[in-house]
Amino acid sequence: RHTPAESGLLAGKHVLVTAGPTHEPIDPVRVIANRSSGKQGFAIAEAAAQAGARVTLVSGPVALPTPGGVVRIDVETAQQMADAVAEALPADVAILVAAVADWRVEAAAEKLKKSSGPPMLHFSPNPDILATLAARPDRPSLLIGFAAETQDVVANGQAKLSSKKADWIVANDVSGDVMGGSRNRVHLVTTDGVEDWPEAAKEDVARHLISRIAQELS
Ligand code: CTP
Ligand code: CA
Repeated sequence: RHTPAESGLLAGKHVLVTAGPTHEPIDPVRVIANRSSGKQGFAIAEAAAQAGARVTLVSGPVALPTPGGVVRIDVETAQQMADAVAEALPADVAILVAAVADWRVEAAAEKLKKSSGPPMLHFSPNPDILATLAARPDRPSLLIGFAAETQDVVANGQAKLSSKKADWIVANDVSGDVMGGSRNRVHLVTTDGVEDWPEAAKEDVARHLISRIAQELS
């Protein structure tokens, strides 16, 4: 399972990765965010670079160093992430690990004051980056989404595979302490079936995914 870094399995390929949360501003000092440390996405970007790929990592706000050999583009909102992904195309493989905020609110120009009472927030939907990418003529030939679920993990992954027209969904159970943790247990959901991978360090899950991708492209 430990693919040698030097193997060059993905030499000549452009791999696009999204990672981390997005932050949707409420006012200049407050945001709505998802929980995501960015660890799994950064580990995947690093493993892809070690396999010889050119890697573009579009990252929401995280506290992680940039992996060696990776071009990192920092964004804050889902719309900015969507724009950065479109800008990074074409890519051979896209792995969308980010926990994208499903909704945004119209941000107030000035800081809301507590003394004014709790604000009424009006939500509108953000673009679905994965579904949008799947519908593009220059769609990456291998398009992989992640699905963090707290119940019916595989069934939800299968539903997302077809609704978003992804090639693969990596579904994981986040009902425990996966969020922010160092280990992950995932199921690779494809149209061919489901692979249950053993629980492992996020770096090992990343390496395994990269070798699975290399196998698929070969
Ligand atoms: N995703 C995306 N853009 C969005 C929302 C999600 O690209 N606006 C991507 C995620 O990066 C992930 C996949 O879609 O790869 C699944 O995300 P998830 O939040 O599980 O799917 P949703 O369709 O938003 O469903 P849910 O109601 O469970 O949040
Ligand atoms: Ca979502």
